[in-house]
Amino acid sequence: MRKMAAVNLNLPVVEMLLAAGADPDIVDGAGQSPMTSAISTKVRPKFSSCVPPDLITLIVMLIQAGSNLDLGICEFSNPLITAVTHQAECLVALFLSHGVNVNITFASRVTAILLATTKDDLSCIKQLLYYNTKLDVKGNVYRKRRHGKYFFDSMEFAVNNGKFDLVKLFYEVGYNLSNLEYLFGKGNIPKALLDNPEMHEWLKVSSGSPRSLLDISIKNIREFLGLMPCEKVKKLPIPTKLKDMLLLKHIFDIF
Ligand SMILES: *[C@@H]1O[C@H](CO)[C@@H](O)[C@H](O)[C@H]1NC(C)=O
Ligand SMILES: *[C@@H]1O[C@H](CO)[C@@H](O)[C@H](O)[C@H]1NC(C)=O
Repeated sequence: MRKMAAVNLNLPVVEMLLAAGADPDIVDGAGQSPMTSAISTKVRPKFSSCVPPDLITLIVMLIQAGSNLDLGICEFSNPLITAVTHQAECLVALFLSHGVNVNITFASRVTAILLATTKDDLSCIKQLLYYNTKLDVKGNVYRKRRHGKYFFDSMEFAVNNGKFDLVKLFYEVGYNLSNLEYLFGKGNIPKALLDNPEMHEWLKVSSGSPRSLLDISIKNIREFLGLMPCEKVKKLPIPTKLKDMLLLKHIFDIF
């Protein structure tokens, strides 16, 4: 009943139920909460710029009623993972700006950034990087065409699938290439790299070169700022040019 009102975006009914003390996070048999089932039903992936305004209103109502945005019963009940699944960048941004755990994982160990990487969803990827997501958490992913299950982090997935723009982006934001042991002569080199010697060489050279002091400082300051670094950067009494660097503008602008 409650869930149906949310899924149908029947806002007056939702409002009434919440005012009567309904639990905004009640989870159904499929593990979905009112918020995540409404997102799943109303957002069409790839058309996410058309997130219905009523859906945003519903989400705000649920947040105001105390909904737990880090709800972690399973991936289907988690707002951030659900928004990334449906490639709804504006919802991803909304949840992140409310301080949700950007690194959250469930049984599959798939993080939001890994999910966005498998979907090649650059706008969600940038949002997650902006909020300091970890890039080196491995999760169970399937690969199209070559059926099979792999245990990859976001960088490994991008390399193995030949998504070299993402590889460069992940390197720029500080991914530690020491994790890719085949660059150091251990283990098999992925086929996508054997097919692209130029990229293979670029990775080898990058893995052997120290980062610039500027890059290291930016990464350390961002990590020090911790949760919601962007909001904090905006308040710092420093020149705009430095703020932009801490907001990774110099990197995001070229991808
Ligand atoms: C996510 O992981 C990064 C990198 O370890 C860390 O800086 C950040 O604080 C974590 N975010 C949360 C919300 O735990
Ligand atoms: C990268 O990983 C290697 C091996 O785990 C570690 O020794 C090194 O300190 C890491 N580099 C950075 C910048 O964290």
